[in-house]
Amino acid sequence: MSKRILLTGGAGYIGSHTYVALIEAGYEVVILDNFANAARRVPGALEQITGVPVTLFEHDVLDRAALDAIFAEHAFDAVVHFAALKAVGESVEKPLEYMQCNLGGLVTLMQAMAQAGVFNLVFSSSAAVYGVPESLPIPETAPLSHANPYGYTKLVGEEIIAQTCASDPRWSVGVLRYFNPVGAHTSGLIGEDPKDIPNNLMPYIAKVAAGELPQLSVFGDDYATPDGTGVRDFIHVCDLADGHVLSLNALFRDGLGHTVNLGTGQGYSVLELLGAYSKACGRDLPFQFTPRRPGDPAASYADPGLAKDVLGFKATRGLEEMCTSSWHWINTCAADN
Ligand code: UFG
Repeated sequence: MSKRILLTGGAGYIGSHTYVALIEAGYEVVILDNFANAARRVPGALEQITGVPVTLFEHDVLDRAALDAIFAEHAFDAVVHFAALKAVGESVEKPLEYMQCNLGGLVTLMQAMAQAGVFNLVFSSSAAVYGVPESLPIPETAPLSHANPYGYTKLVGEEIIAQTCASDPRWSVGVLRYFNPVGAHTSGLIGEDPKDIPNNLMPYIAKVAAGELPQLSVFGDDYATPDGTGVRDFIHVCDLADGHVLSLNALFRDGLGHTVNLGTGQGYSVLELLGAYSKACGRDLPFQFTPRRPGDPAASYADPGLAKDVLGFKATRGLEEMCTSSWHWINTCAADN
């Protein structure tokens, strides 16, 4: 019988792509989402892609009574927990909201899981837990720190999980530290929601390509990197989604938790990403250099070795595919509106 998974935040950007990957891998999946940062069209798009009716509960992950009712109704084998706030800048302005949602949400969920006897969890962590990296590539053993309330919630979230696992051996948790997820599903039906003015690089470039924003501001041209602009480990969101399937498989297979980076191991600069996107959309995209954004490290990319050893994970989609899939999604979703 196929295993049943609860996906919190399953209508969001990474959650929706992971939903597709889990269904394709033969899992039964139930989504919990409050649509705080997800589009209403996503469940329909997921049905179109997978051909499977979506089971979705619209609740907040802080709603313990709703969680208890869902756990009572479905015998879950594991939970994949995406539901959280994720904007670094916003977290500086509203730290308490981030603590409540990201930490309160995690604790509430784990309590509901324990009560229901579900002890397998995959947790969305972030390369933000490495703060400003001391050396590159970044292995999981690198020193941990935080540069903002968002990063703090991921670091403390990992700690809450570690202490809970130490106190009760029934828990098996996969902690996945994401680098920079970009791109979209090949169908063009799901992707990163393009509603607001984006903080992150790829969605900003996508808006410039679509003619909705005049030009990209490249934050800093004097970093100690080959072309002076920031370097990041961009990972295709479908590779990231596959990483969640492998993490669950490992939990079920080994009954042991793991903490791994999900990245490609390859860094690309802001200008390299802009160049690849220009190629994907067929025109040179305008940009200007502006001062560095405070708190940004010059470069960040993963040592992907442990994820390969423990999960058998290896990202397969390159920079070109990241950009063409994003551009396809932008066109499909613009055509839809
Ligand atoms: N950048 C620009 N112009 C923009 C936006 C970004 O030049 O308009 C640059 C940044 O300075 C940086 C690079 O593009 O050099 C990537 O920036 P993003 O905002 O896309 O991503 P970050 O690496 O800053 O942040 C991401 C996630 C965070 C996470 C962090 C951890 O968005 O949630 O990685 O490494 F905390």
